[in-house]
Amino acid sequence: MSGETETAYEILGGAAVVRALAERFYDIMDSNPAYAELRAMHMPDLKAVCDSFTGFLSVWLGGPRDWLDQRGSFCLMSRHAGMGITSGTAGQWLDAMREAMDGLVMDKALRVKMDNAFTRLAEAMAWTAKTTAGPA
Ligand code: HEM
Repeated sequence: MSGETETAYEILGGAAVVRALAERFYDIMDSNPAYAELRAMHMPDLKAVCDSFTGFLSVWLGGPRDWLDQRGSFCLMSRHAGMGITSGTAGQWLDAMREAMDGLVMDKALRVKMDNAFTRLAEAMAWTAKTTAGPA
């Protein structure tokens, strides 16, 4: 025992599980017609965003920071500004993510924490889009 607190990245299972979570998320988004509206917002080829999301999750969960070091900086909210995210597409994102987490995020406490954090982020993105949109 090192006595050090385990990171979310370690509890999740490290690089292989983080990569699997990102791949599962985009596979689900790509194949389930319930997520068609969300899918249509993305590029036809999901490889680049899947790689990027894998790198983001690694940093976000307290794992290796290579992805951020290579980019220099990254602001999640700015990156999603101007996409016109609605409560509908935010809900699709969350549902697809919950499906992806099923069977992969085995630690119950971590699952609740991740769900809460994703929910706050997705809702904030939809709220920001709504409150910064120009007059209809
Ligand atoms: C709320 C609903 C959301 C929608 C509709 C959405 C949509 C998108 C779209 C359209 C892209 C660009 C994809 C492409 O170019 O093919 C993207 C990129 C990305 N999204 Fe989201 N997203 C959402 C929520 C989130 C959340 C909650 C996170 C993080 C927890 C996230 C993390 C990312 C990352 C890391 C990228 C890649 C950015 C880059 O490489 O520049 N997204 N998202």
